[in-house]
Amino acid sequence: MEQTDLRVPAPATVVRPATPRQRAARAARNGGEPTLDFADRVPYDAYVHASTLHRLQQPLSDDPGEMSFLMVSQIMELYFGLTRHELREAQRCLRADRVRAALAPLRRAALHLEGLNAAWKGLRWMTPADFNRFRNLLGEGSGFQSAMYRHLEFTLGLRDAALIRPFRRQAEVHAELRATLAAPSLWDDVVALLARRGFAVPAEVLGRDVAEEHRPHPAVEAAWVAIYDDEEAGDGETTGEEAGAGGPGDELRLLGEALAEVAEQFGDWRWNHVKAVQRTMGAKVGSGGSAGLAWLQRSMARVVFPELWSARTAM
Ligand code: HEM
Repeated sequence: MEQTDLRVPAPATVVRPATPRQRAARAARNGGEPTLDFADRVPYDAYVHASTLHRLQQPLSDDPGEMSFLMVSQIMELYFGLTRHELREAQRCLRADRVRAALAPLRRAALHLEGLNAAWKGLRWMTPADFNRFRNLLGEGSGFQSAMYRHLEFTLGLRDAALIRPFRRQAEVHAELRATLAAPSLWDDVVALLARRGFAVPAEVLGRDVAEEHRPHPAVEAAWVAIYDDEEAGDGETTGEEAGAGGPGDELRLLGEALAEVAEQFGDWRWNHVKAVQRTMGAKVGSGGSAGLAWLQRSMARVVFPELWSARTAM
């Protein structure tokens, strides 16, 4: 099933394309200075929607620190969406057996996750006393209710249908999450690719109910052991870009490394979140109704691309 597209429709104001010749002519007319006169809204805003973005902050208190909590959350939301966009592109490539083409969006995803992780720095100033100054005003609001985070988790293969229940009064959001849950995860697509490449993946794995969380399978683990051990795939001593510049197995090993990077960066986000929670509210209960720290630590135990990690013991 094709997943729904979450992008909003194109805005009415369009950005007019310009050729290099038109750009050169304009620079000559301007005497090398930037253009200062526009008939309409500046093209930058028509493209980036900066004026809209900067109107999206509605703090609940007068506390000067709340803005950084709010905007860091918004920045993270955007990164969740961007990372998920890259992962979906990687899925499209893998479904078409274009493994090398999938590497670029996966690497971009890992880099965006690095940017996402850096955003935690903006909250390192916050002590429990600082947080308490506006925490009550958040009511039951919690990042737990981030629909885009759930899309990201579901795309990575961490799946729990119960987690879409909070959205059942928001028909469109709920339908989009259901669609993501009904479609194969990135890991499902990787496993299907391995089967098409001749690895013995049992029918029960290929035909499983994709809405459920993938259960690690020894056959998938064995496939990864074989891929990383493949002599033809390189000298076995290099990793990443240079890994296996030669044989037919090399692109699968590059795929494995690109996926490992995504999983590791995502794991870093989860870990950084737990540390931020510990730092700003200790083991108090969460605003979303959970036990807080203990619940998050349990949630973190779920592994992204599990056989890619367990296979390393057998290599
Ligand atoms: C230091 C500030 C933060 C604290 C104290 C905090 C606290 C918590 C707590 C206690 C939970 C568990 C659910 C509940 O609320 O009961 C949670 C979940 C979550 N929070 Fe935060 N959070 C913070 C910052 C953020 C930020 C900036 C984001 C980014 C949008 C975020 C996203 C999430 C997500 C996605 C979950 C669900 C995690 C999962 O399902 O495993 N949190 N948070």
